[in-house]
Amino acid sequence: MFVVNKKQKFAGLIWMFALLSVAFASAAPAAQPAPRSNGLAQTPPVGWSSWNNFGDDINEQIVIETIDAMIANGMRDAGYVFVNLDDGWQRYKGARRDHPLEFDPKKFPRGISYLADYAHQRGMKLGIYSGPGQTTCAGYTGSEGHEAEDARMFANWGVDHLKYDSCCSHREAPKEELQKIFRTMSNALMTQKHGIVLHACHCGWGDIWEWAAGLGVNHWRIGQDISDDFNYPGNREQYYFDVLDQLDRGVGLEKYAGPGHWNDYDMLIVGLDGQSKQLVGTGASNIEYRTHFSLWAMVSSPMLVGADVRKLDQYSLETLTNKEIVALNQDPAGNIAHKVRDDGDLEVFARELADGSHAVLLLNRGAATATMTFSPRADLQAPMDRYSIRDLWKHRDLGTYDIPFTTEVQSHEARVFRIRQLATSANGRSVSDAAEQELAR
Ligand code: GAL
Repeated sequence: MFVVNKKQKFAGLIWMFALLSVAFASAAPAAQPAPRSNGLAQTPPVGWSSWNNFGDDINEQIVIETIDAMIANGMRDAGYVFVNLDDGWQRYKGARRDHPLEFDPKKFPRGISYLADYAHQRGMKLGIYSGPGQTTCAGYTGSEGHEAEDARMFANWGVDHLKYDSCCSHREAPKEELQKIFRTMSNALMTQKHGIVLHACHCGWGDIWEWAAGLGVNHWRIGQDISDDFNYPGNREQYYFDVLDQLDRGVGLEKYAGPGHWNDYDMLIVGLDGQSKQLVGTGASNIEYRTHFSLWAMVSSPMLVGADVRKLDQYSLETLTNKEIVALNQDPAGNIAHKVRDDGDLEVFARELADGSHAVLLLNRGAATATMTFSPRADLQAPMDRYSIRDLWKHRDLGTYDIPFTTEVQSHEARVFRIRQLATSANGRSVSDAAEQELAR
């Protein structure tokens, strides 16, 4: 008689399990990680980050004054709730194997949780910075090998956002290696009770847009660091991207972004005026900064102001606090603007908004003022017989149109409009005409 003893039974089970695993593995779709969501950043993070102006020269006083200034100047109420410490909050420079990760008590005498509380009490959020290496990009201790411990520490401090920066290294590394880096931190953050938005700062290497959302990353840089330039010929120092470089880099990547996971075109340079202690570049004109801001809103990039908000001039403040433009960035549908027309220097970008209206941006990259025309039928492939137009920089309704809309756009300017299809009522008057007349009375 064939007797099966316990040991054989056990071995048999193991074999069965192994065979089943192989069968399942070969049936499963290859490589692509299953989508994961931490439920955060349903609209792109909007706020301030210390790096573009201050570099690593930051401290508690700057952060508190920044929060106070953002409340006093209307930025918080316009949607700027994140206040993010970038590199330089750490106590030690050098490898993590030689030093712990702690806040610098000279720069932050009351610690990070004091600042998180200070922000939270005022309806704002606090962000922090680290990286997957032994050191961060500015040479401070990184998180390598201590991801779980650091995630716990950040969560205990009440931190709401983590910029996790690989310093644009590992350019040629296999995707699996890159994924492991960001997966490890994402998993560590997801086990915390306190939700922390994860920014993978990785210069777009390894086609990060294809896989980062699947790891639970909320936004990822698509290109190299921004410089304080609108359109510098080539790349400054053969590395930096100006505003138009970032914009062009994003063309084709629209489909990877949406609620909870965004293409990040890097921090805003509005108001730096070539004065940054940290960024290269000679600054841009008021119009160019406004164009940059409008574009970042249209593509729903995170919008983190890099300037010293305690000293913003009136024009920059008006640019940043244009609630109608911020609303495009924060539109709950999360549709990213596409370039719908490219006539050399004259380009049209458009996106559909949650309420069915469309945002349209006319960009003139050329050196002279140009006349530009926008046609809903041709540019949106939307058969709008009658539509209303609102100018989002002039804050004015321009009226009702049934023909293409023509206007002047200055050199390097972006005009931004919200257009709405009008239903026609039985008596031939458009419903919206009637509503506008109501308003005028
Ligand atoms: C760079 C990053 C910058 C800033 C800096 C800090 O890699 O792109 O935005 O975070 O590191 O050292």
